[in-house]
Amino acid sequence: MPLSIVILAAGQGTRMKSSRPKLIHRLAGKPLLQHAVDASRAVEPEQIIVVVGHGAEQVRNALQGQDLHFVEQREQLGTGHAVQQCLGAISAGNDVLVLVGDVPLIRAETLARMVEQGKEAAVCVLSFVPESAFGYGRIVRDEHRNVIAIVEQKDTDDDQAGIGECNSGIMLIKGDRLQGLLSRLDNDNAQGEYYLTDVVGLAVDSGDRVNAVVCDQASEVIGVNDQQQLAVVEKLYRARQAEALMSRGVKLFDPARIDIRGEIDAGQDVEIDVNCVFEGMVTLGNNVRIGANCVIRNTSIADHSVIQPMTWIEEAVIGRGVSIGPFARIRAGSRLDDSVKIGNFVETKQSRIGKGSKVNHLSYIGDTEMGADVNIGAGTITCNYDGVNKFRTVIEDGVFIGSDTQLVAPVRVERNATIGAGSTITKNAPADKLTISRAKQVTIEAWSKPVKKDT
Ligand code: UD1
Ligand code: MG
Repeated sequence: MPLSIVILAAGQGTRMKSSRPKLIHRLAGKPLLQHAVDASRAVEPEQIIVVVGHGAEQVRNALQGQDLHFVEQREQLGTGHAVQQCLGAISAGNDVLVLVGDVPLIRAETLARMVEQGKEAAVCVLSFVPESAFGYGRIVRDEHRNVIAIVEQKDTDDDQAGIGECNSGIMLIKGDRLQGLLSRLDNDNAQGEYYLTDVVGLAVDSGDRVNAVVCDQASEVIGVNDQQQLAVVEKLYRARQAEALMSRGVKLFDPARIDIRGEIDAGQDVEIDVNCVFEGMVTLGNNVRIGANCVIRNTSIADHSVIQPMTWIEEAVIGRGVSIGPFARIRAGSRLDDSVKIGNFVETKQSRIGKGSKVNHLSYIGDTEMGADVNIGAGTITCNYDGVNKFRTVIEDGVFIGSDTQLVAPVRVERNATIGAGSTITKNAPADKLTISRAKQVTIEAWSKPVKKDT
C-alpha cells in the first residue's frame, strides 16, 4: 500500500519560552520541523501531511514551497484528535506513518524499518528505552512479549510506571484499519485528551496484531521541548554529521568542534581544523584544507585549495590550488579561478578573479572583472559605489596595480598596464604603459621644523 506521512506539529511548545512556535526554532540551520520532513522524504511517501495549530501561519511560512499538505487542528484535543483531522486529506486506503514534529533526529533507516515490520501488523509503534522513562507513554506487553497497550504516564498504575520501554510517539497504522481505530478513540483518561496511543489497545481488542520496532539509539527519538533539549539535540546532530564525514575519509582535527548546518560533499584527503562552521551546501574537492575558525556557506572549493584560519566565505566558487586568508572575507558572487592567492584583510564581492592573480594584503575588490596573472598591491580599493549606484571595474590580464591605489569605477585597466603606487585612477589606463596619478614628490628646501612658541 502507498504510504501517507502525518507529522504532528500543532502543539505550542510553551517550555521554549519564546514568542515563536517551537517547531520553527532552528536546529543545525533549519527549522526543527524540517528535519522530520526531510527524514520522511527518504521513505518516499505518496504524501506528507503536517498538522498545524499554534502559530500555524508561521509554521506554514517556514516550510513553504515543499509540496506539503497542511491540515489545521484548531483546538489541540490530543494526538488522536490531530490524526482524525487528517482523515479527509489522507488518500483512501493508504498506510499512515505518524511522526512528531519535535523529534528531529529520527533517521530514514529507522522509518524504513518500521514500514518493513509494519507489513504484518495493524499497528506498529517505535519504542525505545530512555535513561528515565518518566513522562513517556509505556509499552505494555503480555507474557508472550506481545504489545498489548500504551499507557500514558498520568494514567499508569505502579506496575506500569516501572516499565522501561517507552513510546517514541512515532507509529504506523494500516490503511484498512485507520478509520475504524480512530473512530473508536475517546477522551476518558487523566488528561481528557484523545490519545493516538489508544489505537494499540483497540487493535489488540479486535484481535489484530501490534508490532514494536525498538529503536536501539535512544538519542534518535529525543523530543525537543526546551532550550536545553535543543542544545543537546544540536550537539548530537553535530556528532552525527562529523561521524559521517570521517567515515567518508575526511580528517577532522576534533570532531566535537565542527558545525555543519547543511551538507558537505567532500572529496578525498580533505582536512578540517577546529571550530569551522559550514552552512547550506558546501562542496570540497580532493586535498582541500580548511584552517581553524572558518565560516563557509554555500560554496564550492576545488582540489588542492587551502583556506587559512579565520576566513569567511559565502556564495562563492573557488578554483583549484587557490589560497585564501588568513583573515579574508570572500563574499557572495566571488569567483576565484585556479591558483588565485587572496591574503589577509582582503574582501571580495561580485567579482571574478582570473587564474593566478594575487590580492595579497588589505584590499577591497568589488564588482570587478579581473583577468589572469594580475598583481594587486596592498591597500588597493575598487571604488564601486557613488553613494547611489554601483559600477564595475575591469582589470585585464597581466596588470600590476601599485599599493594604495583607488580604482574609481566605471574604469578599465588594460592588458599589462602598471599603475603607480598611491594613484587615484578615474579614467581608463592604457595597455603596457605606466599610469600614475599622484602629484610629483617635491622637497621644500626653505622649510624648517616648527618651534614651540613662548606663551
Ligand atoms: C506523546 C505520546 C507518548 C509518547 C510521547 C513521546 C500520546 C497520547 N502520547 O506524549 O506516548 O511517549 O509523545 O514524546 O500520543 N500534538 C498535536 N495536537 C494535539 C496534541 C499534540 O499536534 O492535540 C502534537 C504536539 O505538537 C507534539 C506531538 O503531537 O509534536 C506530541 O504531543 P505531546 O503533547 O508532546 O505528547 P506527549 O504528552 O509528549
Ligand atoms: Mg511531548
